[in-house]
Amino acid sequence: MSDSETFELSYSQLPATLYADWDRTDTWFNSFLVPADPVLDAGVANATKNGLLDIAVSASQGKFLYLLAKSLGAKKIVEVGTLGGYSTTWLARALPEDGELLGLELEAKHAKVAKENLTNAGLGSKVKFIVGPALASLKEIPTSTKFDLAFIDADWESIAEYFQEAKRIVKSGGVIIVDNVVQNGEVSNFGEKRAEWAEPEGVRRLVKAIQNDKEVEATVIGTVGSKGYDGFLYAIRK
Ligand code: SAH
Ligand code: DHB
Ligand code: MG
Repeated sequence: MSDSETFELSYSQLPATLYADWDRTDTWFNSFLVPADPVLDAGVANATKNGLLDIAVSASQGKFLYLLAKSLGAKKIVEVGTLGGYSTTWLARALPEDGELLGLELEAKHAKVAKENLTNAGLGSKVKFIVGPALASLKEIPTSTKFDLAFIDADWESIAEYFQEAKRIVKSGGVIIVDNVVQNGEVSNFGEKRAEWAEPEGVRRLVKAIQNDKEVEATVIGTVGSKGYDGFLYAIRK
């Protein structure tokens, strides 16, 4: 092969992609892998009707959480921040007959919509909600109650504290997932802020704490798609 034919991949010089590329990509893969879902669609419609923000995980992320819960054979799941129950529905679908999910949600209206949606999805009996600030609710959970999986997706200031509490109640070998740890790249950006909505400090505190934490092994994987550029922190409780 002559030099002119040699292709050297330089990642830093790849052309920028646009939101349209991420959205089309999600749509294309989902058309094969994540079928149309009238139950989830009805839940989203109910959330919209009640004025809830459109900040649930994307469909592909929801399916990822479902697959993860199945892989773990999870019987007990805790979710911090349920909104209208979109991710809750995905997670609860992975539970066996005797499985249970505990949803912690600050806003009574969000929990009410989530409960309606889970009931309409036929999952009402597997899911319990506690309304109030999640940190206080988490602290009420005895250490002897062990969860297989925790999904943290509430406010970002308290992410590090939620993680500490999750660690306390997740079993050895269990998994803790934290949403929104990338925030369009702002968590690692110490220059001028480009996304006004970003609140990176809580996530920075979290990863600094994990750095020297012998009780977990963790990584961050970016999530790029129809819900923007963000990321999941994935941790295993040792
Ligand atoms: N997990 C949901 C999205 C959650 S959005 C999904 O993917 O479908 C974030 C949620 O966290 C909102 O419903 C918000 O009311 C809730 N929240 C914010 N602060 C909170 C707190 N201190 N305690 C519990 N929930 C909180
Ligand atoms: C927001 C919160 C989320 O959990 C999310 O995934 C996206 C956005 C928000 O508060 O803006
Ligand atoms: Mg989120």
